[in-house]
Amino acid sequence: MKNLSAEQIRSEFLEFFKSKGHEILPSISLIPDDPQLLFTVAGMVPFKKIFWGLEDPKYSRVATVQKCIRTNDIENVGRTPRHHTFFEMLGNFSFGDYFKKEAIEYAWEFLTTRLEIPEDRLWVSIYKDDDEAFDIWTKIIGLDPKKIVRMGREDNFWGPVGPSGPCGPDSEIFYDLRIPVKECPDLDKCTPECNCNRFLEIWNLVFTGLYQDENGNLGELKRKNIDTGMGLERVASVLQGVRSNFETDLFMPLIHKSEEEFSVKYGRDDGTDISMRIIADHARSATFLIADGVSPSNTERGYVLRRLIRRAVRYGKSIGAHDTFLYRYVPVVESVMGKRYPEIGMRKDFIMETIKFEEERFLKTLDQGLALVEKILSNSSKISGEDAFKLYDTYGMPLDILLDMADERKATVDVDGFNKLMEEQKRRSRENLGLQSFVDSIYESLSNVKTEFAGYENLKSFSKVIAMISNGEEVGSVTAGNEAEVIFDKTPFYAEMGGQVGDSGRCEFKDGSATVIDTYKRGTLHLHKVKVDRGTLRVGMEVNLIVDFDKRMFIARNHTATHLLQAALQKVLGDHARQAGSYVGPDRLRFDFTHNASLTDEEIGKITTLVNSEILKATPVQVKIMSLDEAKKMGAMALFGEKYGDEVRVVMVDDFSKELCGGTHVSNVGQIGGFFILSERAISSGIRRIEAITGLNTIELLSGYKSTLSEISKSLQCTQDEVDQKVKIVIEENQALRSENKNLRKKIIFEELKKEIAHATSDNKKFLVFQTRDLDPADLRDIADDAVKTFATGPVILLQENGEKVTMIVKSTNGKANDVASIVSKTFGGKGGGRSDMAQGGWNGKIEIEKIKSILSEVLK
Ligand code: ALA
Repeated sequence: MKNLSAEQIRSEFLEFFKSKGHEILPSISLIPDDPQLLFTVAGMVPFKKIFWGLEDPKYSRVATVQKCIRTNDIENVGRTPRHHTFFEMLGNFSFGDYFKKEAIEYAWEFLTTRLEIPEDRLWVSIYKDDDEAFDIWTKIIGLDPKKIVRMGREDNFWGPVGPSGPCGPDSEIFYDLRIPVKECPDLDKCTPECNCNRFLEIWNLVFTGLYQDENGNLGELKRKNIDTGMGLERVASVLQGVRSNFETDLFMPLIHKSEEEFSVKYGRDDGTDISMRIIADHARSATFLIADGVSPSNTERGYVLRRLIRRAVRYGKSIGAHDTFLYRYVPVVESVMGKRYPEIGMRKDFIMETIKFEEERFLKTLDQGLALVEKILSNSSKISGEDAFKLYDTYGMPLDILLDMADERKATVDVDGFNKLMEEQKRRSRENLGLQSFVDSIYESLSNVKTEFAGYENLKSFSKVIAMISNGEEVGSVTAGNEAEVIFDKTPFYAEMGGQVGDSGRCEFKDGSATVIDTYKRGTLHLHKVKVDRGTLRVGMEVNLIVDFDKRMFIARNHTATHLLQAALQKVLGDHARQAGSYVGPDRLRFDFTHNASLTDEEIGKITTLVNSEILKATPVQVKIMSLDEAKKMGAMALFGEKYGDEVRVVMVDDFSKELCGGTHVSNVGQIGGFFILSERAISSGIRRIEAITGLNTIELLSGYKSTLSEISKSLQCTQDEVDQKVKIVIEENQALRSENKNLRKKIIFEELKKEIAHATSDNKKFLVFQTRDLDPADLRDIADDAVKTFATGPVILLQENGEKVTMIVKSTNGKANDVASIVSKTFGGKGGGRSDMAQGGWNGKIEIEKIKSILSEVLK
């Protein structure tokens, strides 16, 4: 058997299948273009629609090394030799090309001749009644029938991924580890059916000839396909002769990193090893998820990422972490995986910052959360749903961390109770947002209606009304004064998509006209919200559609400027600054992107200059339709979700910006006229938002600024150039006057107080009560200090009203300050206290001098 590194295995695999006529395709993002899936969970994910017959393949056989994430078994990660959240799948695929025979032959040849795994170590399982596979294995490959086990739907049937989709029976190949397994009832008779871990499944060959609908019914696919998946980590463990995937060259550098970070040794203590393996696994997943554009959040993908980071932090703590550490594993992940996955290196700083920030956020509350768990578990072996929810909601502790902790202490958590509260919270926030989920059957019934979009080249078209919807029903006509959603056979109106708002304009027809208020999509339907102004609009009518030209131009300027902005952001901030959402309207553009720090004035200045310099070049905007591969080769901004074989529309501004985009643009960047950033701020962790304007809007805004500046300069009686200096001077003068005023006030009050002291002394008073005004706490204390120096017979009590509150300071050279403050405050419903020479008090209300004096006469008798 060959001893190969993980990278050698990847290369051997791809080379082998290339030699068998397979097209080698790159790994797609971990975030698939598939509404049924949160993550790419297998090598077949990018090909699901092809398997399903919904899309035609560009190549009939392909092979990939696909990065994948599965988190369904997260609690087993680190506790077994084989569980991971992030892993790589080596796969070969056939779309209606070869089937079982070749799939089995290729797999066998690869394992036994390329990797030189001894044949006698390999076993096989097949679907219980798949005699065809049995015959191929025994007659063509020559495998001993004793080494083939037949299993049922649970074990030898794969798919669908998601609630419906392609699937089929499979055949799995196992490697016999020949390790003595304690739990095995009979090692001699043991087969892959036994759960004793002697047999390691390394490759799954799925004969994808079926599909399953949402109700679980199976049907035949029109093409017979092959989908295979071999776990890279497992094969590496076999070829490198190690007992666990974590001991391969894919993980050991990460394990060593923990040894170095925490001064521990791998292999000495089970608990410590588990923590090290969990950290290694989660460091990989978090790095790859962030590289693919996920940010930590409380929903969906973002929450999975948050959980992974938080779990790693908590296990880090269990082996001695006192502070953030996980982000330092990113360079290690890069050193192991960066060559094959350059996205890590390209976004390394951003990935590190994101992880560090999330670690810091979690550490702030983790200790409080852990203390609460300790407290609960010291009195009980049950954690209630309320407590679990509080730990999640207030202290950010994911449920699975809590379950782990409870498990370690043999305690239980009321998961149902937790889920109930979680559901309630979700329901409340849904209600707050006013969201309601509904499936509108009317749109579905029209889903085969197609509209041709003619609006890239034309802003007018002669079209025909195909269907109209009013109040949730299909209608044949709409009379003046009424609104409807109208579908035309052809339209120049752009429907809201990709952040760009929909067009509006006019619809003219025989004896009437209508306003097109908005245009948007429902599924594939291109809907025009129309209000009939005159006459009656009918299905079947010929109409003249006219897009509001001015509005379209305002939108186009902002859209093309958004592309320039995106390119400028990457040039100034780095490749990690990627689009995370956008709005392109006639009034302004909004661009959300991934970045961890607020932009400095200098950065904003650079970006603004870069964009405006491009505008000044007046380069024509080029639009080309090409294959995705060509687009990527040209360096077009690869977004998530495009598929191999897709035709894509690439919008280009010289070499400065190349983006895949379906929106409408100016024909020459010079038409943008100008670009100005209005604001820049954070909208969530790791995501920032820029709002900007273009064209005449910039002129209007700058004119507005100019007239405001002119007003200010008039008020300040200086020229406009001098305004900033003048404002500084005015502020300084103002500060000086305020402080002078404050000192004067203090002096006046102290003079009044001195008179009061003189009276009190001559009258032989045992205390002195005096009301001050408008003093800050420091001045109040100063005055009190000075007062006791001249009044020595008893406590000096200073009172001041601040709005509805009374503040009291008591100073005394012969004791009782504490008693005075506490008794007086209490009388008025407040609190007070301190030392015998100095105390403070306060209450809500007004100062009642006479009442206070009489209380004091009592107290100080
Ligand atoms: N799609 C198959 C799997 O993931 C190969 O096991």
